[in-house]
Amino acid sequence: MLIALGVTGGIGAYKAVEVARGLQKRGHEVVAVMTHSATRFVGPATFEAITRRRVITDQFEAGMNADIEHIALASTVDLLLIAPATANIIGKLANGIADDFLSTLYTATRAPVLIAPAMNTQMFEHEAVRKNLDTLAARGARFVAPGEGYLACGWIGKGRLAEPDAIVAAAEAILRPDGPLRGQRVLVTAGPTFEDFDPVRFIGNRSSGRMGYALAAEAARRGADVTLVTGPTALEPPAVREVVKVRGAAEMHRAVMLRAGDMHVVVMAAAVADYAPLECAGQKLPKDGDTLTLVLRKTPDILGDLGHRRVSKGGGPLLVGFAAETENVVAHATAKRENKQADFIVANDVSRSDAGFDVDMNAVTIVGAAGAESLPLQPKSRVAEEILDRVEKLLAARPAEARHGSG
Ligand code: PMT
Repeated sequence: MLIALGVTGGIGAYKAVEVARGLQKRGHEVVAVMTHSATRFVGPATFEAITRRRVITDQFEAGMNADIEHIALASTVDLLLIAPATANIIGKLANGIADDFLSTLYTATRAPVLIAPAMNTQMFEHEAVRKNLDTLAARGARFVAPGEGYLACGWIGKGRLAEPDAIVAAAEAILRPDGPLRGQRVLVTAGPTFEDFDPVRFIGNRSSGRMGYALAAEAARRGADVTLVTGPTALEPPAVREVVKVRGAAEMHRAVMLRAGDMHVVVMAAAVADYAPLECAGQKLPKDGDTLTLVLRKTPDILGDLGHRRVSKGGGPLLVGFAAETENVVAHATAKRENKQADFIVANDVSRSDAGFDVDMNAVTIVGAAGAESLPLQPKSRVAEEILDRVEKLLAARPAEARHGSG
C-alpha cells in the first residue's frame, strides 16, 4: 500500500526515518512529504535514500504541478500518516488552512489519517491544541499518543513522539483491519433530511452529520463493511464501502429498507424529519399573504419499520436508534426503544449547547434492555467507540441464526 508520510518540524523528525523504514519492511511504499521546518531537522536526502522516491518539500517546486505522480497523490494514497505532527500542523489541519503541500494533501485526500503529535508538554496541554485535536478526532483522524519522558526542550512530561514501532503498528491496524467487526455489514444513517416545499425552500434541522460519520468511520476501523446513508451535510464521508446520498425522509426510507435485509447492524443516527410537506410546488411560492400555511404529512418511520419487520419476520439486523430530546430524556428514549423495537437507543439531551446537534462533542445516555447508562461529555469519535463496544457485545450474545441480516 502507498503511505504518504508527512514530516513536520520537530526534533522527532529523525524518528520518522525509522517509521519510513518500518513501513517499508512491512511491504508498503512510502512517499515522504516534508514541511519547510522539517527540512531544518533532517535533510530530504535522508528520506529520499530510504524511500527511493523523490521527497516532496514544496508545493510550488518547479515541475510539481506537471508531475502526475505528485498531483495524483491525494487520490492514490492509502494512508496519510503525519509523524511528528507539531502544534502548528495540527492547528492548520483542524482549521482547514492549506498553505503548503502537506496541509493541502490533508484537505484533498479521502484516505484515512493517522497523526502522531509531538511537542512540549505545555503546548500539548494547551486548550487550543486540545480543541484542534478534538476537531480532528471528530472528523475521523486517528492518533498515536505521545510518550512521556525527557523532552528535547528540557521539560519532563508528555509530548515526546511515540516510538516508531508503535506508529508503524497503528498504521498497520488501519491499513489491514482485522478488527472485531470484520465480516459484519453495518449500515449507518447520518445527517438531517431536507423536505422540499418548493424548488428553493425546504424544512430541515440542525444535524451536521458528525455523529453518524464518526460511527461509520469507527465501524470501518473495526473492520466492518460499512454503508453510510447520509442526508445533506457539509462533511467529507469517511472511507467506507458505500456512501448513499439522499435528501428527504422518504428517499432515506427507500435507501435503508432496500439494504437493511442484508445488514448485520443498522445504526440510525440521522435526524429524520417526522413530518414533510404534503406537496412540493412546481414553482417558487410567491410572497402573497402575511401568513403561509403548509400542510405536513407524517414521514415513514424508518427505524420503526425495521423494528416491526424484524418482529414479524424474525431475524434481521441489530437495531440501534438515537433520540434527540429536550426534556424527560430517559423516559422518552425508553418509550422510543419500545415503540421502534430497537435493541438500544442513544439518547441526546439536545437542550445542551455543548452537545448534540452541530458540535464536536456529545453526552449521551444509552437506554437498553438492562436500563439507562449515562456517559460523560466527550468527542463524538469516543461516543462512537462506546456505542460500537455495546454493539459488539450484543452481536456476540446473539444466537447464531439471528446474527445474519435477513429481515
Ligand atoms: O448530526 P450531528 O450534528 O452530529 O448531531 C447528532 C444528532 C443529535 C443528530 C444525533 O445524535 C441524533 O440524536 N440523531 C437522532 C435525531 C432524531 O431524529 O431523533 P428522534 O427522536 O426524532 O428519532 C428517534 C429515532 O428514530 C432516530 O434514530 C431516528 O433516526 C429515527 N427516525 C425518526 C423519524 C423517522 N421518520 N424515521 C426514523 O427512523
